[in-house]
Amino acid sequence: MTGLLVLLAACENDKLSEEIPVVKDNISFALDIQPILSSQCAGCHNPGNVKPDLRKEFAYGSLTEDEEGVVPGNSEESELVQMLERISEDGKSMPPSTPLSPLNLALIRKWIDEGAKNN
Ligand code: HEC
Repeated sequence: MTGLLVLLAACENDKLSEEIPVVKDNISFALDIQPILSSQCAGCHNPGNVKPDLRKEFAYGSLTEDEEGVVPGNSEESELVQMLERISEDGKSMPPSTPLSPLNLALIRKWIDEGAKNN
């Protein structure tokens, strides 16, 4: 019985660390963030469809020109993150159907917390 409890506790810990993945420092917009936007967002977010334009070459400008969407150094205050975490006050959740993976979300948060650089 004790063994089982230990096993359950171990699983529980695994689950927690999966929910908030630890990501590396020095996130690159081009290498780490744009691929997420291209695959998860640009299908809808392109000139023929909805704004902001999140295609490669356009996404950085689109995301950072709106001062509330991305607050450099403060992912918590960034409306973009609130939408991705589905806790936005105006009820918008992105992507509308399937949430981003915890890893992708953690990468975007870290990129913003590191200053939302165009690197
Ligand atoms: C299935 C299509 C679809 C996908 C995929 C999608 N979006 Fe959207 N997005 C929309 C639509 C439609 C709107 C406009 C909705 C509205 O204003 O109510 C929107 C609005 C937005 C806005 C502007 C919100 C505002 O208040 O002006 C942002 C920023 C955004 N999406 C980011 C993203 C990001 C980042 C991703 C990928 C992680 C993503 N979206 C994926 C359809 C999509």
